[in-house]
Amino acid sequence: MTTDTLPTIDWMAADFQTDIERAAAAIAPFQEKGGPGFVRSQRGIEVVNYDTAVALTRDPRFSLAMPHKLKIIGITEGAAARSALNFLFSREGVDHVRARKACAPWFTASGAEKLRAQTRQWVGEWLDAAAGKEDDFEFLGEISNRLPSTLFCAIIGAPVSDAPFIQHMSEEMMLLTAPPMPGNAERIEAAAGKTEAYLLGEAEKRRSNPGEDLLSHLVKVQQEGTIDDNDILAVVFNALVGSTDTTSAQICLSLQSLAAHPDQWELLKNDPSLAPKAVMELLRYNPGAWSVQRSPYETLEYEGLEIKPEDTLFPCVFAANNDESVFPDPRRLDITRDQPASPLNFGMGRHGCLGRMITLMEQEEVLVAVTQKWSNLTVLESNFTGQMFALAPHAFRVSFSVAQ
Ligand code: HEM
Repeated sequence: MTTDTLPTIDWMAADFQTDIERAAAAIAPFQEKGGPGFVRSQRGIEVVNYDTAVALTRDPRFSLAMPHKLKIIGITEGAAARSALNFLFSREGVDHVRARKACAPWFTASGAEKLRAQTRQWVGEWLDAAAGKEDDFEFLGEISNRLPSTLFCAIIGAPVSDAPFIQHMSEEMMLLTAPPMPGNAERIEAAAGKTEAYLLGEAEKRRSNPGEDLLSHLVKVQQEGTIDDNDILAVVFNALVGSTDTTSAQICLSLQSLAAHPDQWELLKNDPSLAPKAVMELLRYNPGAWSVQRSPYETLEYEGLEIKPEDTLFPCVFAANNDESVFPDPRRLDITRDQPASPLNFGMGRHGCLGRMITLMEQEEVLVAVTQKWSNLTVLESNFTGQMFALAPHAFRVSFSVAQ
């Protein structure tokens, strides 16, 4: 079978990623048992069955195919090409293994725990500062965008006053995942140049004044002679781009889902120890990052389908997380659920998300603090651009009542 013969779905419809019930209903017919689990959308081939999506994400015959993606945006050289091709998730083989092995000891569950007290303090202070804004609070700017960029500063040992710069650079770099638009390539190039110089400058400072942070750890490994500056950039630049908008979008969507299910809000409010399960269920139910993407190195037959290197397959997180054969009654939000399998949000296999424990901790802290301090929340404006990889948050305004 060739990809041209696949059924099609209107993935770019304005409400497709905002009306998740409509999206789930549109995808369901393609998930039927024994069916191919593939459907063609405007951006490529969507993989909508959990098992196929997981297998493809892990398959070494496929990569993220960054050179092909950059060509489509019109980026062929300069800082943007250099950085994007060097990202950890763009790397394969020994170059990937070397950099991942160097940073993996820093990205542990206990490492994420070390960041929890500071995260709790920031979130508490920022929510307290919302007093008086009960009728209209800009949650995106004041909390959900602010937390990951501020925490990124702590992760690399930089002053937290650099957070607005980190947030802005991340937003500009995220244009890499947006549908190509005139001017985007220039903006990405400018952001990549500034970010590269900033991160190398910070690494230099950690050489003479090391701490407990990720950059200090990597600089130490570099001094042992196993990695170089490019390996350091592969990790920290990837972490910058991959940790900010993704976490912010997920926090907003999870709160939106909780607000729409007051019984679940009450469950978490009355028992904050449910937070780890609640976070997993909420990101399964309404994911901020909708897809991973893969292309084969060479033309091959995959599950009866002929796939060429210029084809892009999207193991679809939203669809996989709604596969009824894996997650029973998937459209029921139940924050006490024990997940029978890992939701696909963080990828799988050799490129599986290194920051998973950190973002889970951030999400837990925000959801617990909000449900403890506020008795409810109403979404006034929720605006996310549906991009090719992740939802980019543009606005999340809420009203709320303070808990008595
Ligand atoms: C909700 C938040 C997040 C989501 C949804 C997310 C999602 C993902 C996904 C899907 C991948 C795999 C990409 C692929 O297989 O093609 C990935 C990789 C990665 N993530 Fe995350 N991520 C999040 C937060 C973070 C954070 C907080 C950090 C670091 C502080 C981080 C650092 C990384 C890195 C370095 C990789 C590359 C791993 C490799 O290629 O070996 N991410 N992430």
